[in-house]
Amino acid sequence: MRAAAVGNAAFETAVSGPAASGAAASGPSASGPAATGPSATGPSATGSSALEPYEHALRTGGPVYLRRADGRRHALDIARWTAEPDAADRSMLVRCWGPTLDIGCGPGRLVAALVRRGTPALGIDLAPAAVHLTVASGGAALRRSVFDPLPGERRWGTALLADGNIGIGGDPAALLTRTAALLRDRGCLIVETEAEEPYAHERFAACVEDARGRTGAPFRWARLGVRALEGLAPACGFAVRETWTVGDRQFAALVGAP
Ligand SMILES: C[S@@+](CC[C@H](N)C(=O)[O-])C[C@H]1O[C@@H](n2cnc3c(N)ncnc32)[C@H](O)[C@@H]1O
Repeated sequence: MRAAAVGNAAFETAVSGPAASGAAASGPSASGPAATGPSATGPSATGSSALEPYEHALRTGGPVYLRRADGRRHALDIARWTAEPDAADRSMLVRCWGPTLDIGCGPGRLVAALVRRGTPALGIDLAPAAVHLTVASGGAALRRSVFDPLPGERRWGTALLADGNIGIGGDPAALLTRTAALLRDRGCLIVETEAEEPYAHERFAACVEDARGRTGAPFRWARLGVRALEGLAPACGFAVRETWTVGDRQFAALVGAP
């Protein structure tokens, strides 16, 4: 079955292929645009020096923040990301169909839960600590940028952009277009949007900051509300099929336009 083959290939690559040994050091994310420095404007300019405070927080559970260039600061919810999936997370999981790619998987709670449900799943993340934690929790993960070549291109049944990951790269249209190229025909993209700001479409420079004010290198990020997503989707190869809210979190399911 084609779907199973994609999932198996992903698992095999994650366990024994270039990601497990070489990709972190010499693969596309180390040498390509993902490793580009703070002044980079490309969509994957979140290099490892940018993520160091985040990785430290993943390992220690300490507080960590997204610090915007304009001075505003948002706490990153490491506790939730390292916990079991909650009701809002489960509302995404039940909508995953076929082999599922979790883009920016963090410590992997969604990947691990999908595996427990019998859904072939792969997480990708730039942060080695995130990949390590995902694998430790029973999931498969690769250290890759979403903008790098990935296993199963055009064959994933579902892709996830959870927890604000529509912000990856700081250009939601570029990220949506890239994600459309990862999905099979009529594949589904689940996006978490800014629940309280449906028209938000912000693109900005930010860095990760720890509790002592130490920061990683700046990178580009974005925030997107559901109405703004509906406006962007058609030009990026998607139609919005469904939107829903659970508690204070909001989601949209997009389907690849034929
Ligand atoms: C907001 S956190 C997401 C947390 C995650 N969804 C979870 O469940 O823990 C953003 C994640 O995206 C990753 N990331 C940033 N840029 C990326 C890129 N270009 N490709 C893949 N992952 C990326 C970060 O390392 C980080 O783990």
